[in-house]
Amino acid sequence: MHFTSILASLVSVGSLVRSAAADLRITANNHSFGGVNFPQLQFLQPRYRDEVIRTIVRSNARVIRLFIRPDDAHPDAEPELGGFDRSMLDQFDDTLAAIHHLSKGQVKVIIAPHDAHALRGTNGVPCDAYCKKLDGAFLDFYSVDDYRELYKTRLEVFFRHYPSKNFDGRPWAELSEIILGVDIQNEPWSGIWPIVAGETWLCDMATHLKDTLGLGENNIAVITGGISGAQMPEGIQNFPDSAIDCPAVDVIGIHGYYAQESDATAGTPWASIFLPNNTLTSRVLGKKLLLVEEWSYMNTDNGLAYKKQAIFDQGNALNYRGIPWLYSHLTIRDEGTTARINPLREPQSSFAIGPLVNVLRHAYKARSNFNWSKYLPAPPTGLSNLTLVPLNPYIPEQSDCVFGCEGFLCDSADGCRTDLICKNSICQVPSESQPGKVGDVCNSKKVCQEHLKCESGTCQECDSRPTIQPDDPRKVKVYNDPNAQCRADKNTLLQTRSYCTLPSASNPRGNPCTNAAHCDANQYCDWGLCKRCTEGCLGMPCKSNNKCKTGFCNSYGRCDYPGMKKIVSGPGAYARDWTRNRKGAGWNVGGRKDDVRGPNKVRDEAMKINIPKETVQATGQPAATA
Ligand SMILES: *[C@@H]1O[C@H](CO)[C@@H](O)[C@H](O)[C@H]1NC(C)=O
Ligand SMILES: *[C@@H]1O[C@H](CO)[C@@H](O)[C@H](O)[C@H]1NC(C)=O
Ligand SMILES: *[C@@H]1O[C@H](CO)[C@@H](O)[C@H](O)[C@H]1NC(C)=O
Ligand SMILES: *[C@@H]1O[C@H](CO)[C@@H](O)[C@H](O)[C@H]1NC(C)=O
Repeated sequence: MHFTSILASLVSVGSLVRSAAADLRITANNHSFGGVNFPQLQFLQPRYRDEVIRTIVRSNARVIRLFIRPDDAHPDAEPELGGFDRSMLDQFDDTLAAIHHLSKGQVKVIIAPHDAHALRGTNGVPCDAYCKKLDGAFLDFYSVDDYRELYKTRLEVFFRHYPSKNFDGRPWAELSEIILGVDIQNEPWSGIWPIVAGETWLCDMATHLKDTLGLGENNIAVITGGISGAQMPEGIQNFPDSAIDCPAVDVIGIHGYYAQESDATAGTPWASIFLPNNTLTSRVLGKKLLLVEEWSYMNTDNGLAYKKQAIFDQGNALNYRGIPWLYSHLTIRDEGTTARINPLREPQSSFAIGPLVNVLRHAYKARSNFNWSKYLPAPPTGLSNLTLVPLNPYIPEQSDCVFGCEGFLCDSADGCRTDLICKNSICQVPSESQPGKVGDVCNSKKVCQEHLKCESGTCQECDSRPTIQPDDPRKVKVYNDPNAQCRADKNTLLQTRSYCTLPSASNPRGNPCTNAAHCDANQYCDWGLCKRCTEGCLGMPCKSNNKCKTGFCNSYGRCDYPGMKKIVSGPGAYARDWTRNRKGAGWNVGGRKDDVRGPNKVRDEAMKINIPKETVQATGQPAATA
């Protein structure tokens, strides 16, 4: 369209009028938080380990997620089935104590007591004792009773029998001052969705942790750990009914790996998944907590220059939606094009530490609709009001678009390029059915979208207000600066169309609509215009369709949009979408040619199992995980 990078880069948002109705920010008084994964932290030399912990504490992270699993240089804590290595548990316990002391009790940990990747020797995790016994039939881990009993013993030894070396011999199941929660496993059924066998394992193990081992009475959360691995933007991989309906599950752990795309930032999928009062968030509110337990930078063809932008976009979207998160992951190894971030590097020499610390700082004071106070006390600083979506300060200047581009977060009608619409906090191309688009007929009865103007009977784009540039031509041009000033309503040389005057923030007119789905999530369609909703709104409890201004009462008793894509589950449901990732018989996992594992070894031949390739992939594809 007309918006070249130059013109778009002149737009400032600093002094534009705000339209309150489009504002979906969280106003609840609960705290969100941010944190990090550090899978191998306990294996570092104590001096390095403590230096890393101090850096993490300084960054305002509240949670560190740790794994009990082997690596190339260290055995598993259960070197043979039913046999445990106390020194490995002591080493882990030392790490818990170091975090507790160095953070003065402000930082807690989440423990993944086993990693499903160890059942197959994938993702760089060595094949452990379970894996050797399973010999490729890894789904037996979930469906065969003997394995369930063995795994229950592992959990019992870790959380009840082992007397803490540093916490007065108490069992880990009682250390709520340092342990926030425990994953049932890291990524159970990793890469397999729908779950084809043993789904009852999930609630069985959750109940074992919560009731038998006593995490529940000690206020330590039971977390699902990222069921089936990577969450697809429109799927339900990480939150199947078996998790949401299991009383022993406290927290749904979500793992997603999204890359920046031409029409989406890396944060756009997060802003969509956690839209306030949508099917997921309204269904779990007050019942379960949602935690993005793993998110990562995914490298693209655009290269590392965009790494900072992608990290900020994701953390920023999660903070705006009030969903706590843990970055995946920190390391003391090289960063390169991987998702890894080395916290000991100076910000100047790292591609990623700056934006991560930036979003951690915002997460520290961000608001959430979900109440985590049982598991993590509020920080002493209080809550911030995220009145405006923070602009991404890390967009490279050479980027095609730097303000209000497709997929960017927005908080008002004028927060996007004028050919786009700001809907549900995301700048998007209006759908065919969205009324009042550019080129649509308009008149006194049929209005245009709020950020457009009606001229000669059709809806037309307005000019963006250019940012006032520094007088000194040697100074860098201002772009994407939230503190910059815009030009007033006078003609300028650049101006080809007139500026639009947006309705005032206190009295927004609302976009034209024919149904609620044309409006923001907190609005309904009132006689052709979007209005703020107060009853029968999206996400509110309902008994019948006629009580919902969204038109539809869903099967969870909440008002919802009609015609939401039905999410099919059950064996084979999504098989077609996944064929791209399918590998035939003889697929060798982890690059070991003689070590054939995978679907061909699973016993029930009638079931269709598609295992995605575990490498870096674009948005929407399953990907390598911590
Ligand atoms: C905090 O979260 C709970 C849901 O867990 C919600 O019911 C409550 O209203 C929230 N508190 C505030 C002050 O918004
Ligand atoms: C969160 O829940 C706790 C009880 O677990 C309650 O005391 C507190 O008031 C709640 N906080 C908010 C902000 O609703
Ligand atoms: C934050 O916003 C709320 C509601 O709009 C307002 O009552 C409160 O005073 C604001 N707090 C600060 C610190 O600006
Ligand atoms: C979401 O629904 C709750 C009631 O379930 C309501 O209090 C809240 O205002 C709604 N939020 C929005 C943004 O519509």
